[in-house]
Amino acid sequence: MRVAATSVNTVDTMIRQMGPELPLSPATPALLGMDFAGTVEAVGEGVGGFTVGDEVYGCAGGLADLPGALAEYMAADARLIAHKPATLSMAEAAALPLVGITAYEGLMRAGIGQGKTVLVHGGAGGVGHVAVQLARHFGGRVSATVGRDEHHALVETLGARSIDYRAQPVATMSPGTPAAPASTSSSTRWAAPTWPTPSRPRR
Ligand SMILES: NC(=O)c1ccc[n+]([C@@H]2O[C@H](COP(=O)([O-])OP(=O)(O)OC[C@H]3O[C@@H](n4cnc5c(N)ncnc54)[C@H](OP(=O)(O)O)[C@@H]3O)[C@@H](O)[C@H]2O)c1
Repeated sequence: MRVAATSVNTVDTMIRQMGPELPLSPATPALLGMDFAGTVEAVGEGVGGFTVGDEVYGCAGGLADLPGALAEYMAADARLIAHKPATLSMAEAAALPLVGITAYEGLMRAGIGQGKTVLVHGGAGGVGHVAVQLARHFGGRVSATVGRDEHHALVETLGARSIDYRAQPVATMSPGTPAAPASTSSSTRWAAPTWPTPSRPRR
């Protein structure tokens, strides 16, 4: 693929900080960068579903011995890429893969479904803000922990009830039976009987 956009993921920063102590951290010198979006330049023998010129995205390298996306061109296992949604720009698509996979996998393992209630910790973070939106997509009722003040508005815009993790210990949190919160603002949020309707996503 010709790489058009990549992202800097939390895991990239962990590779920088922890080096070989992080499992699957690539040995240096290495080509870093996991997520990418770009265009198919050539298709390997036996690969189906992709043709030259296709716009694709994925999480296909930058770990262990797989060369990463911080390059003009990248070779990728076809099983690790997908067709880029036409509604997303290259930059938007390149921000999604690893956080999207992580959020999706977590929600599947948690048994998300219509009418299920889910608590997303770090709901404004890279993984969390995608998990909130996916959980809503699957019909869940979502509460999400946030710390920074501006993050309350963000997760509520995405359709979750926000909980200030600074005001309430995680061990006492339960989306269905809220414990008595420690702050007035948190109390107001917990008292809300309904979940907000998410705003229409921006294109
Ligand atoms: N990024 C990935 O693709 C990926 C893949 C696999 C696993 N993970 C793991 O998933 C976790 C989140 O990663 P991320 O990339 O989403 O990180 P991130 O973007 O830095 O977000 C982390 C969020 O955690 C919240 N937070 C901080 N301290 C907290 C506390 N004491 N209690 C509750 N929430 C707290 C922060 O909320 P405020 O800013 O509102 O304070 C922040 O929004 C990490 O453990 C990471 O190792 C990430």
